[in-house]
Amino acid sequence: MTAQRIDGNALSQKLRADVTFRTTALKARGITPGLAVILVGENPASQVYVRNKVKACEDSGLHSILEKHPASLTEAALLNRIEALNQDTSIHGILVQLPLPEHIDAQKVIEAISPAKDVDGFHIASAGALMTGMPGFWPCTPYGCMKMLESIGYELKGKHAVVIGRSNIVGKPMALMLLQQNATVTICHSATQDLKAITLQADVIVAAVGKRNILTADMVKPGAVVLDVGMNRNEEGKLCGDVDFAGVEQIAGYITPVPGGVGPMTITMLLVNTLEAAERI
Ligand code: GUN
Repeated sequence: MTAQRIDGNALSQKLRADVTFRTTALKARGITPGLAVILVGENPASQVYVRNKVKACEDSGLHSILEKHPASLTEAALLNRIEALNQDTSIHGILVQLPLPEHIDAQKVIEAISPAKDVDGFHIASAGALMTGMPGFWPCTPYGCMKMLESIGYELKGKHAVVIGRSNIVGKPMALMLLQQNATVTICHSATQDLKAITLQADVIVAAVGKRNILTADMVKPGAVVLDVGMNRNEEGKLCGDVDFAGVEQIAGYITPVPGGVGPMTITMLLVNTLEAAERI
């Protein structure tokens, strides 16, 4: 059996059409959803990411500003900029692209963003809201994964979901979202013993490690749903995920490709969060 692909570009197109529709309705009420993206330094990957985020806003009718600062920007100056954006009524979402230069305390910067504008969902208030099932912004990548499961009508109740990776951005919030849908959740990480024994029991696997081929065909139960959050490069410089796609595709029931899977969904959910921040005004 060859797995069915969950197409992140097609699903994004559908969700972004809804974002555009709701944005138009909001504009008719005199509110244009606005996102401020802050980039500090010259990290080449970050430059591509922020450009894509700003372009996605433009394409969907949202207002966006991109602030580029030199790597020498002080922490105090960055905190001042965030405070100004917290007060700016034309801005509903604030995103500080990570990683930040080492002399800046990223957690302190994240906590400076008003939780009402925390469209990345990284603030401890957002993390606490997710943990307790209260309203708040969900981190975009795991939120996008949940939308992908929803798109195939997948019922998580009682299923065993295995998350590989425990980052604050993906692994931990992913596990909480799956738990909220009544899955039985296992989080695996670098100290996990016998990863394969655990993944073989999984109905759903989310690979979010940042390491090529962390999940191979022999580790997957036939028919399982496999979501690949990885963004790596192979020897030829081609973008690839954490999953050995060619092998796992022969075993899984559903699989997300890289590129064209979770990646576009992350930006889509950023648009959704920004729109919702504006709708809550
Ligand atoms: N760096 C890598 N992914 C992300 C993300 O989703 N948000 C921000 N702010 N920085 C990132």
